Amino acid sequence: MTVKVLFRLLGLPPGDDAEVRDKAVLMVQSDPVTRRKGPEHIAAYEWVRDYAARIIAERRASPGEDLISHFSTAEIDGDRLSEREVLLTTTTLIMAGIESLGGFMTMFALNMADHPDARRRCVADPALLADAIEESLRYNTSAQRFRRCLEQDAEMHGQLMRAGDFVCLAYGSGNRDERRFPNPDVYDIDRKPKGHLGFGGGVHACLGTAIARLATRLAFEELHKAVPDYARVHGQLPWMPSTTFRSPLRLDLARQ
Ligand code: HEM
Repeated sequence: MTVKVLFRLLGLPPGDDAEVRDKAVLMVQSDPVTRRKGPEHIAAYEWVRDYAARIIAERRASPGEDLISHFSTAEIDGDRLSEREVLLTTTTLIMAGIESLGGFMTMFALNMADHPDARRRCVADPALLADAIEESLRYNTSAQRFRRCLEQDAEMHGQLMRAGDFVCLAYGSGNRDERRFPNPDVYDIDRKPKGHLGFGGGVHACLGTAIARLATRLAFEELHKAVPDYARVHGQLPWMPSTTFRSPLRLDLARQ
């Protein structure tokens, strides 16, 4: 489903979907032992980047109504996105549209399976799904952390960080900060968590928030109509080997 949504948004050739999906999922992984990218992960990234470059060149030559054409030709006050910006944004879009959304939907399914009271309330009143999705974005942050390089010195909690330092933005940790969210380890769909970091924040906050919320809500409205009661089959889950993203590679559910 996530691949189909993304392909429509970007106007990509439908026949490419299986290969693009496989590479997008592989490019975010790392070796489970060394925790570094292995050759297969780097090759997958390079494949997606080269694929994006080819599509961008095609859209520059003959623009359409899709998002990549708009990125390639958009101007703000006479300023256009550089070649590198268009390429990095398109590569991120392909990765995020497929992997981030698929990973989050899997985490949301896990929360619904593990919290049957919350699920029953969402089944009875699908309007509650929006609140449950927000709480899952906080509770089970699927995009756990990203890096930044500081442009200027900054001090936080008595810790001085220097311009040029690399810092890790641990979104998953911030989302369980008890100063912000009381009883942070409790999954509570009535919490309505304001200011969670499930989509990051600031200038690089997620571009796909609206479509991610909408696609997840629609998917679970349909799932809950067809299968209102379900539970996970396995206690142990095959977590994706990644230092950034956190979701099971596979989640088997059974009707109750
Ligand atoms: C629920 C699913 C999703 C989650 C949890 C998620 C999470 C995030 C997070 C945390 C960031 C910030 C990264 C950073 O701080 O550097 C981000 C950035 C981004 N996301 Fe998402 N995302 C999701 C779905 C999507 C979808 C569906 C799209 C596209 C269709 C998308 C496109 C992007 C892009 C392009 C950026 C980079 C923005 C920038 O650097 O300026 N995301 N996402």
